[in-house]
Amino acid sequence: LGVAATTGLAAGSGSAAASLGYPDAADWTREQAEQIERTDDTTAPLIDDSVEQLSEEQYVWDTWPLRNRDGSLAKVNGYQVIFSLTATDDVVPGARHNLASIRYFYSHNGHDWQQGGEVFDADAALGHHQWAGSAMYDEETGDVNVFYTAVSAAPEYRQRLAVGTGASIETSGDGVEITDGFDHDIIAEADGELYQTLEQSRDQGIIYAFRDPWFFEDPETGAVYALFEGNTPIENPSEYTDWNGNVGVAKATGDGLDEWELQEPLVEAITVNQQLERPHVVVNDGNYYLFTISHKFTFAPGLTGPDGLYGFVADSLDGDYEPLNEGGLVVSNPESAPFQTYSWLALPMGDDLAVTSFYNFRETDSLQDVGSLPPEEQKRLFGGTLAPSLQVRIDGAETEIVREMKDGYFSPAIGAQQRGNGRAKQH
Ligand code: FRU
Repeated sequence: LGVAATTGLAAGSGSAAASLGYPDAADWTREQAEQIERTDDTTAPLIDDSVEQLSEEQYVWDTWPLRNRDGSLAKVNGYQVIFSLTATDDVVPGARHNLASIRYFYSHNGHDWQQGGEVFDADAALGHHQWAGSAMYDEETGDVNVFYTAVSAAPEYRQRLAVGTGASIETSGDGVEITDGFDHDIIAEADGELYQTLEQSRDQGIIYAFRDPWFFEDPETGAVYALFEGNTPIENPSEYTDWNGNVGVAKATGDGLDEWELQEPLVEAITVNQQLERPHVVVNDGNYYLFTISHKFTFAPGLTGPDGLYGFVADSLDGDYEPLNEGGLVVSNPESAPFQTYSWLALPMGDDLAVTSFYNFRETDSLQDVGSLPPEEQKRLFGGTLAPSLQVRIDGAETEIVREMKDGYFSPAIGAQQRGNGRAKQH
């Protein structure tokens, strides 16, 4: 969540945070985060302005594809489907969060997206508005299940994890229709013990998070999880403990998607960072790669990291995650345009990753400054559409951006994007 939509940060005080975490969670430590470095391998090219608007009337930001249970991209009668947070673009970009509504788009080639419309009936969906998100297509039943964040109105932004289950998808020569037959349920709320509640976060003055459920079926055990962005409650505040972001997880305890139990976080960034947003996992060669996005302004004092995609690797879902590339940085924007894209999502593409994101703010190196510009200028600077995707290669605990692909490219197979869809890498 960006600066314009949030309240001020409280400065940390007291002494270092020692054994505050839960024994099972891996820690992203300050020592590790000190190794964060923008290199050629982790810096995306500057976006040129040939990027197409996905929608003429809507801002489009956080986006996720319809995936099968096993995490592969779903193809339904030749169609791929993506879901995006959208809002009417007649407000300033910072106002969009309170108006977010999930729309879907479909395509035959994973790139030329057609508008499908709003996914949910606004009266039936939970929350004043909905935030990110994941979507699972059950090949056996033909059901579309959309996980989302049920959010209360600004400025409170209370967040709960929700799911809409049991809708069906119809395809024809004319396109795709998701027929709203969703049953809406809350799957988890912050419990105040493993996950900080809104009220606890107020005492600390932090940016509270309990959002972004990501469906994940563990290929090793078949167990079903929803990963999410949370914060760890701090009992004995000390230096930097206001920066307490975690990657949370809930486990489905029944056969369906209606019974869930909160579990200990997978990663905690206490004293490091306050927001580990949109966490997701890709299993590659038996390794569990856990990715999350974060902002420059949510790092604790004394640490510097760009707005970027950060990643960790372990040998099991609840393993001892180590940051990729030493510090954790996998994708950042070029230094000359540090806010050009955000909300990266790493998806399997053969042995590589296709990393998607949205076009955020061009021509600025301060989001705070953008917020004080005249409305028309704020709108001009905001991309509000899908950015060029990146092909990222992984080798153990190291990664490399190997090329820029088309904007909004969600590839189901590496073969597809090799047919001349790429643009040369240029810095
Ligand atoms: C990331 C994010 C998500 C949230 C959405 C709100 O860009 O902050 O965590 O669901 O944006 O607009």
